[in-house]
Amino acid sequence: MIIMGFLVFINLAIMLMIIFAFTPTISITPPNYTVAKPGCVDRCGNISIPYPFGMIENCYQSYGFFVTCDETSNQPKLFMQNTTLEITDISPDGHLKLLQFIAQECYAQNGIVDSYNNPWISLADFTVNNTANKFTVVGCDTYGFVYGGRVNRRIYTTGCTAMCDSVENLEKGPCMGLGCCQSSIPEDVRTVNISLGSYRNHTRVWGFNNCSYGFFAEESAFSFSPESLTNLMNVKKLPMVVDWAIGNATCEQAQMNFSSYACVSINSRCYNKTDNGDGYRCRCEDGYEGNPYLIHGCQDIDECVVPGLNNCKYGCKNMVGGFHCLCPKGYLGDGRKGGDGCSRGESLTLRLVAGTALGFIALLLLICCMYLELKRRSFNRNKQKFFLQNGGILLQEKLITRERSQDIVKIYSSSELQKATNDFHNNMIIGQGGFGTVYKGELPDNRIVAIKKSKRVDPNQIDQFINEVIILSQINHRNVVRLLGCCLETEIPLLVYEFIDNDTLSANIHNQAKARFLNWSMRLKIAAETAGVLSYLHSAASIPIIHRDVKSDNILLDHTFTAKVSDFGASRLVPLDQTQLSTMVQGTFGYLDPEYMQTNQLTEKSDVYSFGVVVLELLTGRKAISFDKPEAEKNLAHFFLSVLKQERLLQVLDDNIVSEGNMEQITEVAKLAQACLHVRGEDRPSMKEVAMELEGLRFGGKHSWARTEHNEEEMESLLGEGLNGFPYSDGNSSSVGFDSLRDHVILPISGGR
Ligand SMILES: *[C@@H]1O[C@H](CO)[C@@H](O)[C@H](O)[C@H]1NC(C)=O
Ligand SMILES: *[C@@H]1O[C@H](CO)[C@@H](O)[C@H](O)[C@H]1NC(C)=O
Ligand SMILES: *[C@@H]1O[C@H](CO)[C@@H](O)[C@H](O)[C@H]1NC(C)=O
Ligand SMILES: *[C@@H]1O[C@H](CO)[C@@H](O)[C@H](O)[C@H]1NC(C)=O
Ligand SMILES: *[C@@H]1O[C@H](CO)[C@@H](O)[C@H](O)[C@H]1NC(C)=O
Ligand SMILES: *[C@@H]1O[C@H](CO)[C@@H](O)[C@H](O)[C@H]1NC(C)=O
Ligand SMILES: *[C@@H]1O[C@H](CO)[C@@H](O)[C@H](O)[C@H]1NC(C)=O
Ligand SMILES: *[C@@H]1O[C@H](CO)[C@@H](O)[C@H](O)[C@H]1NC(C)=O
Ligand SMILES: *[C@@H]1O[C@H](CO)[C@@H](O)[C@H](O)[C@H]1NC(C)=O
Ligand SMILES: *[C@@H]1O[C@H](CO)[C@@H](O)[C@H](O)[C@H]1NC(C)=O
Repeated sequence: MIIMGFLVFINLAIMLMIIFAFTPTISITPPNYTVAKPGCVDRCGNISIPYPFGMIENCYQSYGFFVTCDETSNQPKLFMQNTTLEITDISPDGHLKLLQFIAQECYAQNGIVDSYNNPWISLADFTVNNTANKFTVVGCDTYGFVYGGRVNRRIYTTGCTAMCDSVENLEKGPCMGLGCCQSSIPEDVRTVNISLGSYRNHTRVWGFNNCSYGFFAEESAFSFSPESLTNLMNVKKLPMVVDWAIGNATCEQAQMNFSSYACVSINSRCYNKTDNGDGYRCRCEDGYEGNPYLIHGCQDIDECVVPGLNNCKYGCKNMVGGFHCLCPKGYLGDGRKGGDGCSRGESLTLRLVAGTALGFIALLLLICCMYLELKRRSFNRNKQKFFLQNGGILLQEKLITRERSQDIVKIYSSSELQKATNDFHNNMIIGQGGFGTVYKGELPDNRIVAIKKSKRVDPNQIDQFINEVIILSQINHRNVVRLLGCCLETEIPLLVYEFIDNDTLSANIHNQAKARFLNWSMRLKIAAETAGVLSYLHSAASIPIIHRDVKSDNILLDHTFTAKVSDFGASRLVPLDQTQLSTMVQGTFGYLDPEYMQTNQLTEKSDVYSFGVVVLELLTGRKAISFDKPEAEKNLAHFFLSVLKQERLLQVLDDNIVSEGNMEQITEVAKLAQACLHVRGEDRPSMKEVAMELEGLRFGGKHSWARTEHNEEEMESLLGEGLNGFPYSDGNSSSVGFDSLRDHVILPISGGR
């Protein structure tokens, strides 16, 4: 009986094992933490030279990180720049060690100074670490000063006195003033000068101490003992910790200049060097290690291999950016708590061995097992169900009937996207709001993408959702954020977009520091590009598309400040035979077309209105709605129209755009915005007219929008890429408009770092 029960148990255990063997597996690339840039020497003797340090131009980040290696001796030595400051260690976390001379002052028996030196050190770009180093004075009739310059031309002086009257009184241990004293220095120190003195020229202590010593060095590099009084004579140098950082700007300031921003690795983060000097440092995110200053510098740590990094009792599985504990074969639980999460096995085994209640347990296990198996099946069924529900078959069919090309939307599996976002880890969130969440992800081919996990989709509108996915994936316009693919296996479809690295237009305009970089010509370019793409959506595409939520939050900028319109979640297709659609009013307050709000009739002129508000933001730097402003100025559109009436335009313009001798252009654009903001949609220019006017202004044309002749050909070429291989007819079909994800996505919120 016992044996039989045991066999049953083993069987069950094996079954359970099989069921639970599907923990996600993630391939691990062998760690190869590149230290230096490709092609650069990464060591000098046994000292590693991590980038931003380097020995030749293009190997170092800036001159401050230039080092030289003297290989003439058999123990090569590393020096800072072309100086004689010897470096013994460089750590990528922002520290390095320099060898610094010890100050000595030796006296002859008659009290005459026999020899002395006053060493000093001056760092151009870095600061000495004020916590790891201490100023130490050793002697029995000695005082010492340390002084020098700090960041911003400030100075400091500090020091201490060391006395004693016999060697016997001295003790090994901390420096407390008896033969040895220590003092700390303030933050932000760039230069260290040391000078020593004696009260009685060592005449009373000469017998056992004829020299004074002083040094500024790593605290742990020196420990005092009575022998130090003589031993120090032979020690010429001691190591000193120096803090290094990039530049003198904060992270935010540095991020504005992508060409020089140093935290380039994926999974790296920027930190202000808040204490001890300015500048910023880069660090790999938790779970990664390596050199964050190199593009693929931060690599996953295999926590399962490195001792002490995991607390797993039974087994460990490495994952990108983390790890996962396993449970022993046949036991349940996710093991996240190092194995405590696994349901207990010992007592079970004990009972089994005792042979008591064996049948009961077997039964229990059987039920449990069946339950789990059912659950697993239902999980797979759900996956299948969601795939069907989300129109997977429809999409697949659509895709199969179409010519395969690289531009086609890719259907990602949920596991692929889980892997890309590290299981939708919070670290990967780049945007969040009422609409859902946007994650940053890295696909296996190293492509960085933004993955949008939206709110529920109305099941009745799945067909339309699929249509929109296909249409969006086809809009291959350089000023539209590209949809790369989607995943239909989850209840809520996931959308995969290209990653745009320079934040939203809104963030750029409304951040004072960033707005400074947006000069008039850039703003005009952004406006023209946005108008161009809206015009293209309205008229050049086979089926006109109304964006319906044009706002500065939905215009992203890449590193060249090229505008990328995003979020077609609210967009609608408008069949050509209809000029307006009756819809539920949707959009964002402050940008909403008042006519549409009143009539519920959606036309492409609603986008024109919203675009007008975006232009006002570009002109004034104000927000569409500013709750902190007086009533009359709250709504930017109303305020601006009244300002124009009173001819006070100059007073409301953003300081960053005036004084460039471009008032004529600015006035034209202001007039254009005014036209876009007409209460009656009919009175507003079309997006095509707006786009042409803006392009004209950009390239020096003078024609006014009101007189523009419509020239289809010119327009097409102006707008760039057409819809090659678009699956629909010329658009004279009678399909109706649709809504898909009813959200207001800001995507991707921010990037780079
Ligand atoms: C690490 O990378 C360097 C340079 O890319 C390469 O030469 C070296 O073979 C790599 N080492 C390993 C262990 O992959
Ligand atoms: C380099 O080698 C020297 C002598 O072999 C040793 O004292 C020193 O600690 C080593 N430095 C590093 C960074 O390994
Ligand atoms: C080090 O280089 C700088 C700039 O190249 C130069 O001004 C300076 O004189 C050099 N110093 C030495 C000691 O060679
Ligand atoms: C100081 O004393 C040491 C030994 O204690 C001796 O070697 C050294 O020459 C003395 N220095 C002077 C200047 O007398
Ligand atoms: C100074 O050194 C200590 C120890 O190495 C380190 O913890 C601290 O962060 C350093 N200070 C700065 C500003 O880097
Ligand atoms: C430190 O010493 C150097 C060399 O003697 C000198 O040029 C410099 O002015 C000194 N610094 C201060 C703050 O006195
Ligand atoms: C110490 O030596 C200095 C010069 O070397 C001399 O001016 C001073 O008077 C001496 N002091 C004593 C107390 O001997
Ligand atoms: C930062 O450094 C640059 C060049 O090294 C210098 O021109 C600028 O004044 C510095 N800014 C501050 C705030 O120290
Ligand atoms: C950005 O960095 C590059 C390279 O360091 C520099 O030439 C350029 O002037 C910087 N631009 C701004 C706006 O700071
Ligand atoms: C860096 O410092 C600036 C100004 O002190 C601050 O606004 C910003 O939030 C800091 N950034 C980080 C990443 O700590």
